[in-house]
Parts: sequence; structure tokens; C-alpha cells
Amino acid sequence: MKDQGSKIKAKEANFDLETLILELNQMNRWISLFVILCIAWACADAPPTASAREAEVKPKVKKVTGMERSELALLMREMHDRLQLVSDSLEQGLEVHPGFLEEFKAIHTATATQPSKIDDVYRGMADHFLTNYQRFESSQEDQKATFNSAIDACLSCHQQKCTGPMKIIRRLKVAG
Ligand code: HEC
Repeated sequence: MKDQGSKIKAKEANFDLETLILELNQMNRWISLFVILCIAWACADAPPTASAREAEVKPKVKKVTGMERSELALLMREMHDRLQLVSDSLEQGLEVHPGFLEEFKAIHTATATQPSKIDDVYRGMADHFLTNYQRFESSQEDQKATFNSAIDACLSCHQQKCTGPMKIIRRLKVAG
């Protein structure tokens, strides 16, 4: 009796195994279909939306040598580059007529890397610089001297707020 019972059980087990294999085969087919669909979907590269394309053209944060720069840092670089050209011209004995004052006034509004640096000392120094720079732009005589005073005003603020670039700012000064 005991033997017969286990035989039946073995048969049942056999039958279960067969249906399991059948089911697995069917499942395999479904899985294959699913995988194929996934690959097809992934390959059909959707065209970028208008806003994505715009973001590619106009990145919000400019990157210079891989580092993000604040508005103020970018403006400072711009001021440096513009005044480098002015300095070169003055060095060659040329008279210059730059018109950067309005643009440079943005030192009062551009956001800094460390906003805590924009305090009353900063604002006073910014006005001091703009006054000196305006004096340079409105003077036709002795442009070298008034230019150098403006650069000194850059340096006064930097002495207090950001000593790193002082060496390159000092190089803007015109000899003589
Ligand atoms: C009122 C203060 C002040 C004046 C005036 C000023 N600077 Fe700056 N400058 C700063 C501060 C603060 C920073 C740091 C900006 C930041 O990281 O957001 C800076 C940063 C810079 C940098 C480094 C930018 C970078 O990429 O990190 C340069 C170069 C620079 N200034 C040049 C100048 C020159 C040239 C002048 C004059 C024409 C000038 N600065 C006038 C306060 C001043």
C-alpha cells in the first residue's frame, strides 16, 4: 500500500513537472517578446523637445575651465579683459574712448559666489571704483594717470574682499 501511494505521488510529480515546463516555455516566449519591445523602444530615440534643445544652446551656468562662475565673477573677468585692451592701447601711447561705465555699474547688482561679501564695505568700494573709472572715461588728458587710479580702486576693494586676483589686476597698470 505504501509503495503504491508513493508511485502515484511520483506520477503526479511527473505530471506537474511537464505542465511546469510547458508554462515556462510559454513564459519564455512572453519574456522574449518583452525584451524585443524594450530594445525597439530604446532604439527609437525620441527627438529632443524644444525646451531641451534650447537648454543645450543656452546653458544657464557658464562654465569656465570646468568651474561654475557667479555673475559677479564673470563680470569681473569681462572688466579685466576690456581694461587689458585699454591698457595695451595706452601703453602704445594711443588716446582711448571706451564706454564701459554703464556695464561696470552692474558690480552693484551681479550675484557673487559668496553673497555675504556684498556688504557696506563692498558697496563703498564699488562706488569708489565707479567714481574713479568715470573720471578716467571723461578725461582726455593724462589718461594713463586716471586709468591707473581706477585700477588702484579695483585693488582697494580686492585688498578687502578677494586678494587672489590682485597680481593680474596689478598688471593692468600702465607704465609712465
Ligand atoms: C567693490 C569691490 C570690487 C571691485 C571694485 C573690483 N572687484 Fe574684482 N572681485 C570682487 C569680488 C567680491 C570678487 C569675487 C567674485 C565672485 O567670486 O563672485 C572679484 C573677482 C575678481 C576676479 C576673479 C574672477 C573669477 O573668475 O573668479 C577678477 C579677475 C577681478 N575681480 C578683477 C577686477 C578688476 C580688473 C577690477 C577693476 C576694473 C575689479 N575686479 C574691481 C570685488 C571687486
